[in-house]
Amino acid sequence: MKNKLQLRASVANTLSGRIRVPGDKSTSHRSLIFGALAIGTTHVSGMLEAEDVMATAEALKKMGVNIQKNGGIWQITGTGVGGLQKPTEPLDFGNAGTGSRLMMGVLASHNFSAKFTGDASLCSRPMGRVTDPLGEIGAHIYGDNNGMMPFTFSGSDNPLPIEYTLPMASAQVKSAILLAGLNVEGKTIIHEPIATRNHTEKMMKHFGADIEVFKSQDGGGNIIILNGPAQLYAKDVIVPADPSSAAFPIVAALITPGADILVEAVMLNPTRSGLIDVLRQMGGNIEFINEREEGGENVADLRVKYSKLKSVTVPAEHSSSMIDEYPILAVAASYAEGETKMLGLEELRVKESDRLAIVAKGLADNGVICKEGEDWLTVTGGKVKGGGFIDTKLDHRIAMSFLVMGLNAQYPIVIDDCSVILTSFPSFIEDMKKLGADFN
Ligand code: S3P
Repeated sequence: MKNKLQLRASVANTLSGRIRVPGDKSTSHRSLIFGALAIGTTHVSGMLEAEDVMATAEALKKMGVNIQKNGGIWQITGTGVGGLQKPTEPLDFGNAGTGSRLMMGVLASHNFSAKFTGDASLCSRPMGRVTDPLGEIGAHIYGDNNGMMPFTFSGSDNPLPIEYTLPMASAQVKSAILLAGLNVEGKTIIHEPIATRNHTEKMMKHFGADIEVFKSQDGGGNIIILNGPAQLYAKDVIVPADPSSAAFPIVAALITPGADILVEAVMLNPTRSGLIDVLRQMGGNIEFINEREEGGENVADLRVKYSKLKSVTVPAEHSSSMIDEYPILAVAASYAEGETKMLGLEELRVKESDRLAIVAKGLADNGVICKEGEDWLTVTGGKVKGGGFIDTKLDHRIAMSFLVMGLNAQYPIVIDDCSVILTSFPSFIEDMKKLGADFN
């Protein structure tokens, strides 16, 4: 158990300076996994060295993958597709839904079993969305927690290719099935009615798999076809800065009077950049500087200045491109004039916490008028009273969002446990203090 870290966020004088947020969490998990499944040694720079990603590295080491850090570069010497060894100890994924679900995909087409476990948050998250399609491939789970972790996950000695339509917009489900398909004879076909983050498809291609992505006829989604089995070869990976982490300093600057900051090298992959579009629609002064390519992604430095925000309606179609950003958008909306409506939020119920409920409670406890529906949230913004006490429920993005909210609230906001931020953004508190934030 980690020690709890209670912090109080108070009004900041202003925010100024530059910040480069750490590497993208989604890309970091995948760089380790693809490196592990490739022949040869993969070099990764910009890796996110946070608890979630390190849990994936530890799990892979327990299955025979050699992972070392040399200078700033991570070196992963893979076993080849299908070459992982049965672990002798449980695989503990901590707080990480991505690490655990993607690894279930990998192990579905390995002929051994492994025990999957994690923290209280991860062990209460639904896994059927992954274990059901992996069951069609031939995997099984054995446990007594209603299909949730901890359980023993058993891969198949004769995995089958499947054609699967995603019942929810989830890159983790898509990725788990594709990772299983790497070691399956035949075509694994996925229909995703709504496009989700595409890091798995891009990295599979980069490592040499035969994978094609076609736009579906209505244009909103994709059809993905992977021809297995694949042979993957080591490739270097540059991990771009995480747009989901960049979201916190961006909103912090927008709501703090006088603020003017530069957020360096923010990834602009369209499957991830929904929040920036919405903040600009709200009147956010966000300027793109030096647009360029880094690690196969478009990136830009973002100059962000304090702005008088106005409310907006965020349609459901927008949600998959900013699914992790709703807690911090709700904070921006609390400072925006008028009523902001956010629709299509059903997936927020099954994140590291029930984010819809926790955000609505946190806003109300800080004097912000909001209404919560089954899959929507409305927030009436303006001035924020603050003074609330936030129980983060082991959710890093809740902790960071409410710390940011405190930067311009009338009374300080207290967060019960900021140690959870280590899962995705270990330098957050120090980096924000350097910009001028008052967290103590
Ligand atoms: C992720 C996908 C998303 C996101 C998560 C990371 C990924 O989850 O919320 O933080 O790396 O594939 P879902 O697939 O559940 O939407």
